[in-house]
Amino acid sequence: MRLFFALWPGPVVRTRLAALTDEARQQVGGRRIPDDKLHLTLAFLGDVSPRKTADLVALTGRLTCLPATWKIDRLGHFPRGGIVWAGSQTLPAALDALHEELWAALAELGFIPPARVFVPHVTLLRKASGPPREPSADMPLDWHYTRVALVHSAVDGPRRRYEILAQTDEPGQ
Ligand code: 2AM
Repeated sequence: MRLFFALWPGPVVRTRLAALTDEARQQVGGRRIPDDKLHLTLAFLGDVSPRKTADLVALTGRLTCLPATWKIDRLGHFPRGGIVWAGSQTLPAALDALHEELWAALAELGFIPPARVFVPHVTLLRKASGPPREPSADMPLDWHYTRVALVHSAVDGPRRRYEILAQTDEPGQ
């Protein structure tokens, strides 16, 4: 099954990301990512065997996510696929460390870390016509995160459905 690790927004951040999506879409069109699919990918693993999936669920139970805040203060654009995304001007140290620690643990399970530099982003639109202007309202957006989720990207007819398989413990529990 296709799996990835992500930060999943709570309702307040999701609503604000959805507002950014609407604002960007008014400028550059494109296909909106549904609100309940908005997330930040920390590690994309591709297709994983059932045995490795069990290892990943167990790993999620051992992982620690130090709570921190990701300040979303810019919109970006990847020309390939016409992706418009929300992200940050600089890579925050806490998010960088979380990404590094996650990949160090994944490497022990035999997963190969990506060669690409980590550009944390929440994809908002696909097939947009170009980069949007920076929206004036609703930024910066402070995303206080406390947990990492292991997510299954399941085939659902022509689409994909995301199911959270496991999450790190809430801090203090
Ligand atoms: P994206 O938001 O930039 O498209 C689930 O597919 C998540 O994994 C998406 O957030 C996607 O990032 C990310 N991802 C990273 N590499 C991927 C790949 N090679 N194929 C599909 N999704 C990938």
